[in-house]
Amino acid sequence: MKPTKKDITLLSLDHPGANDLTYRKRRKFIADKADAFLENPTLFPRIRYNKKERETWHTVLKNLAPLHAHHASSTYLDAKEKLKLTKQEIPQLYELSERLQKLNNFQVEPIGGLVDVRWFLGSLGRRIMISTQYLRHHSRPDYTPEPDMIHEVVGHIPMFVNQDFAHFSERLGKAALKASKQQLRHIETLYWFTVEFGLIKERGVVKAFGAGLLSSFGEMPHAFSKHVTRKPFSVEEIIKTPYVYTEMQKTLFVIPSFSVLQKETEKFLRREGL
Ligand SMILES: [Fe+2]
Repeated sequence: MKPTKKDITLLSLDHPGANDLTYRKRRKFIADKADAFLENPTLFPRIRYNKKERETWHTVLKNLAPLHAHHASSTYLDAKEKLKLTKQEIPQLYELSERLQKLNNFQVEPIGGLVDVRWFLGSLGRRIMISTQYLRHHSRPDYTPEPDMIHEVVGHIPMFVNQDFAHFSERLGKAALKASKQQLRHIETLYWFTVEFGLIKERGVVKAFGAGLLSSFGEMPHAFSKHVTRKPFSVEEIIKTPYVYTEMQKTLFVIPSFSVLQKETEKFLRREGL
């Protein structure tokens, strides 16, 4: 089965690369390689990143470094080091996949763009994180309206080194495959407030582990500001909390530990018959 995916050549006008033909061609070139991989999984794409892409990567990682040092969960910081993520070099997805597989039996596979949520979560159910390989437009290193490689590699991939987090992701993914529409919306919301925007209390201090925070030098300080209500983790409350994709988050949830996240999610999914 193949994922339902958006046409990669269509870029909304608010995309910083919408009017840059060279960027659009490049983005499509990289996305096409991921499509070829879907047809033939022996063709894991290796990308020779150009100077602009290397500069964008460098700028984002340089700006994120002090924020990570101050606000990122220790689990994330350890994993980032284990995966050898540095500002100097854009890693190849196949290398990250090999490292992640050795560390925690989780893999990374390339994808050409946004896919439907059941397919995306379903991949997590097979312990695979699907990731784009193209980068955001170089004019706006601080912003991307779509998931790009920086969001996925810097934000998401390190967290799968943690056993409880990886198990939680796998469990959500397996449940998503059997879920009704309503249940899928609940799973998506739980994913949003944990995997994307989750906070954790470590030795009494609130830290970030959500990819939407860890990969954004705008959203990260906002998450710790007085403009955000930080609530204790509760699956029941999370699934009733609305959120807007395109705005800075107003409410975030703080988990006490990854093992509690995993156990509470398990209880919820069992109650739902998933
Ligand atoms: Fe994400």
